[in-house]
Amino acid sequence: MSGSAHQPARLVVLVSGDGSNLQAILDACANDRSYGCQVVAVGADRSGTRGQQRAADAGVPTFVARVADYPDREAWERHLTSQVASYQPDLVVCAGFMKVLGATFISTFAGRMVNTHPALLPAFPGAHAVRDALAYGVKLSGVTVLYIDAGVDTGPIIAQQAVPVLPGDDEASLHERIKTVERPLFARTVGEVARQVVAQRAHSGAA
Ligand code: GRF
Repeated sequence: MSGSAHQPARLVVLVSGDGSNLQAILDACANDRSYGCQVVAVGADRSGTRGQQRAADAGVPTFVARVADYPDREAWERHLTSQVASYQPDLVVCAGFMKVLGATFISTFAGRMVNTHPALLPAFPGAHAVRDALAYGVKLSGVTVLYIDAGVDTGPIIAQQAVPVLPGDDEASLHERIKTVERPLFARTVGEVARQVVAQRAHSGAA
């Protein structure tokens, strides 16, 4: 069913850096009437990211939750969970968010969290996927869009696309080639998953 039949899906996007994947989602929201999604907030685990600036430029509210500002990791995670929940998201989108989320967050948004990873999982999970793939010597890497579960990059795979590793690649050149493929795949997949969440909720009568 088209997203236009329902209220737009509410996305809360979490970022840590440049936010080019966030931008692809913001652009889809702004330019594609059938996308059926609205970014209602962008959160970051650090101050001054380009991702937050992109959100502000699009008129989207932002918030920052830095681990260092809380007595421990659990307190940070409780705060992050309540911040995200306050925006009543249909889908939580980790778009280059470089923090592992724990049980409090995961149980609150179970089945409603997606992530993007710059490798073909289950190969090369973790924070240095591009570097690890290059070091291994693979000739083909790519991008994986997946649900978030309690493990690190272990959730069910939603979409994947392969990207060649070329002679002379370094981490930056391979990552940029992957991101060129990643941005449209992630934006498209986020839209599909979010519209499903909203349609299911409407169908179950909870909307
Ligand atoms: C993406 O390649 C994502 O898969 C990885 O970090 C990158 C974030 O890029 N975890 P951006 O901030 O969306 O530009």
